[in-house]
Amino acid sequence: MSTEARDSERMTLAIRIGEQGRRTAPPNPWVGCVIVDRTGAVVGTGFHERPGTPHAEVHALAEAGERARGGTAYTTLEPCSHHGRTPPCVDALVEAAVARVVVALEDPDDRVAGAGIDRLRSAGIAVDLGTGADAAAASLRAYLHHRRTGRPYTVLKTAVSVDGRTAAADGSSRWITGPEARADAHRLRAESQAVMVGAGTALADRPTLTVRDVDGPVGPQPLRVLLDGSGRVPAEGPLFDVALAPTLVYTSERAPGARVDEWRAAGAKVVAVRRTGSELWLDSVLAGLAGRDVLQVLVEGGPTLHASFVRACLADRLVAYIGNVTLGPDALPMLAAPVTASLAAAPRWHLEHVARAGHDVRLDYEPADGTRWWRD
Ligand SMILES: NC(=O)c1ccc[n+]([C@@H]2O[C@H](COP(=O)([O-])OP(=O)(O)OC[C@H]3O[C@@H](n4cnc5c(N)ncnc54)[C@H](OP(=O)(O)O)[C@@H]3O)[C@@H](O)[C@H]2O)c1
Repeated sequence: MSTEARDSERMTLAIRIGEQGRRTAPPNPWVGCVIVDRTGAVVGTGFHERPGTPHAEVHALAEAGERARGGTAYTTLEPCSHHGRTPPCVDALVEAAVARVVVALEDPDDRVAGAGIDRLRSAGIAVDLGTGADAAAASLRAYLHHRRTGRPYTVLKTAVSVDGRTAAADGSSRWITGPEARADAHRLRAESQAVMVGAGTALADRPTLTVRDVDGPVGPQPLRVLLDGSGRVPAEGPLFDVALAPTLVYTSERAPGARVDEWRAAGAKVVAVRRTGSELWLDSVLAGLAGRDVLQVLVEGGPTLHASFVRACLADRLVAYIGNVTLGPDALPMLAAPVTASLAAAPRWHLEHVARAGHDVRLDYEPADGTRWWRD
C-alpha cells in the first residue's frame, strides 16, 4: 500500500473516532487522533470528549506511551498551540518525539490559524497538511462554519407531507412523520447547541424543544430560542420551564414591557434586536447565538420563519422529512412567505443525502454552489 493510501486510511479512522465527541465537545471541535509507531502499527487513539478535558492528541499519546517516539500522529484538525483550559497539544507531540504529524485541516480559529503547524515544523517534526481534508471538513462543518463566518451553521428542519405541506388546514401538524423520523430529528437536536422556533409555532404547538430518548452520550440540553418580536407568546408551558433547558427570547421594542418582565420572571433570557416589520434581523440573532458558543442551530420552523431564513440566504442546510400523508391545498406550505418571483431566480439546492426512516424519507440539502445565496 502506498504512503498516501495508508495515510488516507488512518485519517478516515481518526475522523470516525473524532465523531464520538460530536455531541459533547462543542463549543470545541470534535477532533480525532490516531498514533502509529515506527512500524506503522496503531498504538493510540483519542477524541476530544468535553470542553476542559484533554484534547484528542493527549488521549492518543497517553495510550501510545513510549511507542509514539519516532511514530506518526494523524489528527483531523491542526493541533492547538495556545494555552486554553488545557496545555497546547503541540507541546505534547513535541515532548512525545513523534517524527511526523499528518493534519487534515488547518484550524481557522484565530488563536491557532497555522501557528500549531509552524511550531511543529520548527521543532523539527515533519508535517503533512491536507490528507482527508474533504471528509474532515464534512465532519467538522459546523465548527469550521462558526469560526469562518461568525455565525452558527444553520440547519432548517421541516416535516412535510408528500405534497409539501407542514400543517393541515385546521393547524394540526402532529404528526406528519412517524416515530423513526421523529427519533432521527431528536438526534439532530442532540448535535445542535440551540433549537429555534418562531412565535407562530410556539403558540400553535407549545413545543418542549428538548433532546429526548436518544442513544449514546449527550451534551447539555440545547438552548431553546424563541423569536417573538411583538411579545405574543406568554411565559407558560414547557418552553418557559427553564428546569428542562435554558430559554432565550429574541424580541424587539414592540414587545410590551409586562411581557418582557414575565419572560424574565420565568427565568428566560431576553435580548432585543432590530426588526423590519414583524421580522427580527436574523443576522443579529445568529451573531448573538455564535457569541453564545452555538456552533449549530436547528431551526424547527414554522413556515414563516423558514421562509425568512431562505430569503435572507442564511440557511446552510435544509433537512426535510417527507411523511407518508397528503394534505391538499388548504394546508400550510413549507415556506409561508415569498422567496422568489421566478424559477430563474429561485434558490437551488444541492441534494447531499437521502435516507429512509420507517415510512418516511429524510432529504438533506445544502445551497447549490453558484446560486446567488451562497454567502461565504
Ligand atoms: N411540519 C413542521 O415541520 C412544522 C414545524 C413547525 C411549525 N409547524 C406548524 O407551523 C404553524 C406555525 O407556523 P407560522 O408560519 O405561523 O409561524 P412561525 O414561522 O413559527 O413564526 C412566525 C412568527 O415569528 C416571528 N418572527 C420574528 N422574527 C421573524 C423573522 N425574521 N422571520 C419570520 N418570523 C419572525 C413573527 O412573530 P412576531 O411578530 O410575534 O415576532 C412571525 O409572525 C403551526 O401550524 C405549526 O404546527 C409545522
